[in-house]
Amino acid sequence: MKSVLGLADMSRDEILAILELAAQFVGEDDAPCTPTRYQDALRGASIALMFFEPSTRTRASFELAISRLGGYPLIFTSDASSMKKGESEVDTCLNLAAMGVEGFVIRHSERRVPFTVADAVDKPVFNAGNGIGEHPTQGLLDLLTIQRTLGRQTLEGVRVAIIGDIVHSRVARSDVYGLRTLGASVVVAGPAQLLPTDRAAWDVDFATERDAALDGADFVIMLRVQRERIHSEAVDTDAYVREWGVDENVVETRMKQGAWIMHPGPVMRGVELSGRVADSSRSLILRQAAYGVASRQAVLLHAMGRA
Ligand code: NCD
Repeated sequence: MKSVLGLADMSRDEILAILELAAQFVGEDDAPCTPTRYQDALRGASIALMFFEPSTRTRASFELAISRLGGYPLIFTSDASSMKKGESEVDTCLNLAAMGVEGFVIRHSERRVPFTVADAVDKPVFNAGNGIGEHPTQGLLDLLTIQRTLGRQTLEGVRVAIIGDIVHSRVARSDVYGLRTLGASVVVAGPAQLLPTDRAAWDVDFATERDAALDGADFVIMLRVQRERIHSEAVDTDAYVREWGVDENVVETRMKQGAWIMHPGPVMRGVELSGRVADSSRSLILRQAAYGVASRQAVLLHAMGRA
């Protein structure tokens, strides 16, 4: 039994083991499939879903993942809880654990929250996005998407570009850790005010122009501008679309032939990606959503010792 808080410290062997397990939950044509031997793997286990920030894909896929393994997703809504009266996250989780809750999926705008809960409560905590920290299950589902698209496990020789609001993106951080661990070469790019300043810590290439980032990339992960996290300089949408957006023309003239487009969602159509590119045959966006359930099934089983 262990928590899954980030990919920064997850070993290559552990990542590969989780991804190998996840692949068992992908059926033909990417349809969800849960082999019979796993259908009751979480029987009797209640796992709390605690989302203190909006979510579509991550929450729904954790809920489906728990249900498909025979567990019970306990949906906790902070607005209607005693947290409104001032109870802390840790106290809330301690009380739920006392009632028999066996795991906590937590999304919170404050980076420390999943860590403080994991320290205080003797149950696995799954980080579903902690501020600008990490989003490990998104990182894993992105790795699974790349693996299965390529048809191989490790990513040596693969070039991945991550373009957009890097500094505010927990997805970028988890993707970078996971991609580097599996051997991919990574370039991150975006407008200067959306790029991190601690570049050495990232240990990736940096590009200050979209086309330089696209050059030679096999996979291009586009990110949303996280306006809810930008407190200083605003981003001018028209300039952003012109300089950083990817439309059909950019795909045809700037991207490597056969390169794939990814996006964690939510996609701002007409900003970072044109609708036509998002819906095109080069887009893996819906495959990512499908693999999100499989990846979370694998993470739950792995962490809870039920694999
Ligand atoms: C992202 C998130 O919330 O970190 N979405 C997701 O989980 N699929 C990215 C975003 O909000 O832009």
